[in-house]
Amino acid sequence: MNINNYKQYISAETMMGPNSIRILEELFNKYPLQVTPDDAILDLGCGTGITSLVIAKETGARVYANDLWVNAEENGKRFEKWGIGKQVIPVCEDANDLHFKEKQFNALVSIDSYHYFAGHKGFFQEKILPFIKDKGVVLIGIPGLKDKYTDRAEELLSDWLGDEAYMFKSSTRWKELIGSSDRVESVKTWEMDCFSKAWDEWLAVDNDFARGDKRHFEAIIEPYTCFVGIYIKLK
Ligand SMILES: C[S@@+](CC[C@H](N)C(=O)[O-])C[C@H]1O[C@@H](n2cnc3c(N)ncnc32)[C@H](O)[C@@H]1O
Repeated sequence: MNINNYKQYISAETMMGPNSIRILEELFNKYPLQVTPDDAILDLGCGTGITSLVIAKETGARVYANDLWVNAEENGKRFEKWGIGKQVIPVCEDANDLHFKEKQFNALVSIDSYHYFAGHKGFFQEKILPFIKDKGVVLIGIPGLKDKYTDRAEELLSDWLGDEAYMFKSSTRWKELIGSSDRVESVKTWEMDCFSKAWDEWLAVDNDFARGDKRHFEAIIEPYTCFVGIYIKLK
């Protein structure tokens, strides 16, 4: 995947944090999705849908762009404007209570959102797994804690994140939280390489949230946090 193909879409209007397309690029390069135009992919917590656009263009598959804070009408208008209205379906549902069909998706992709709702044991098995087809793949990229600081999020990140610090977990912890199932072949978690680029591109954006993050970057974000990649392969 060549991120330069998407530069025109990566803007203050569409970005909601560190460059999500960088995170997606690393996941796709490491674990390319083998899908066809007849297959369906769920982009869970898609925000303004920029990741859904890239998933659609890179894979050719039908993409269900689900988010909670950004409504489906708003995303639908953006998808029409981007010329992907027929391929990408906007949905607005809580990840805790999705209403898709059983085994509807060949793959699930989730960038910078899974940590908001999935940080407890059993979530993956109960809320996600039923919607994924056999042999399906799950690719997740989220901010987290470096492994050497496992379980120290509240102590180290509260000045930046307040009472949301607990959401940041290390790759070791995420592997435990995803857990196992007789439908799961393998789970891999790791600290991603794209950290510096994704953050640099976000901190350069003219936006109050980016300016807020900039104040904590050197003292907190860079020393203690990373992006955690999660790859799950079903049997
Ligand atoms: C930081 S934004 C990232 C958006 C997008 N994936 C990106 O990388 O640009 C986090 C997203 O998680 C979504 N989210 C948070 N809690 C959710 C929930 N319970 N169900 C579905 N989406 C949720 C929000 O709606 C928000 O758009």
